[in-house]
Amino acid sequence: ALPRDLEGLRVVVSAGGTREPLDPVRFLGNRSSGKQGYALARVAAQRGAEVTLVAGHGNELPAPAGTDVRHVSTALEMRDAVHEAAAAADVVIMAAAVADFRPATRVEYKIKKTDDQPDPAITLERNPDILAELVENRKIGQTIVGFAAETGDEHAGVLDHARAKLKRKGCDLLVVNAVGDGRAFEVEENQGWLLSADGAERPIPLGSKSHLAATVWDAVAEFIKR
Ligand code: PMT
Repeated sequence: ALPRDLEGLRVVVSAGGTREPLDPVRFLGNRSSGKQGYALARVAAQRGAEVTLVAGHGNELPAPAGTDVRHVSTALEMRDAVHEAAAAADVVIMAAAVADFRPATRVEYKIKKTDDQPDPAITLERNPDILAELVENRKIGQTIVGFAAETGDEHAGVLDHARAKLKRKGCDLLVVNAVGDGRAFEVEENQGWLLSADGAERPIPLGSKSHLAATVWDAVAEFIKR
């Protein structure tokens, strides 16, 4: 049996990817399946936390037992749902792959090919950074955990980028995933590094996404005790 060490904690986990519409039938999206975020939510509920899971798109995964799932589609919808749930949360973990940009205009009709018009170009505008907003509006005692998806490996600057991201975003813990070449997104296993704002760093060896989730919750429980 798992420890009930998260009993009494209200936690929010975001999972999956956002979809940014171009027209009524097309969108810009990403490869997140939601598996890592769902594993974080499932493990937290098993360890006694009260869990709200804000779920974007991905595989159609079943709701983890004992969690309250809120489904969203765009980054702006995810932002509203995360902030609403975070207002009463002790811990927020942003495992979702939120689109940094959305198409600047959403065309109301299906974009068509025409022979007399130039091919369309997509102009993007920035989405809000939900994690940075969470840090800005942090409640006293609230723990905020970010994820970072970086291409490359530890020799190619992944950790340097991640350290800079941790500083910039201002969260307490940052889980760094090396992505690309079939890593992290969509697959069953994950690995990476856990960085804390106090400078501590440790590798998380390759294992199931549930195993990585357990490691992250161990670190959160330790962080809260300090
Ligand atoms: O869903 P899976 O298939 O299981 O894959 C898991 C995963 C690889 C998606 C996951 O482990 C992961 O790394 N999630 C974060 C992916 C990401 O978008 O990273 P980023 O480096 O672009 O963003 C950094 C952090 O800021 C993340 O916590 C992200 O949720 C947050 N963010 C990003 C953009 C934005 N507009 N708002 C945000 O809050």
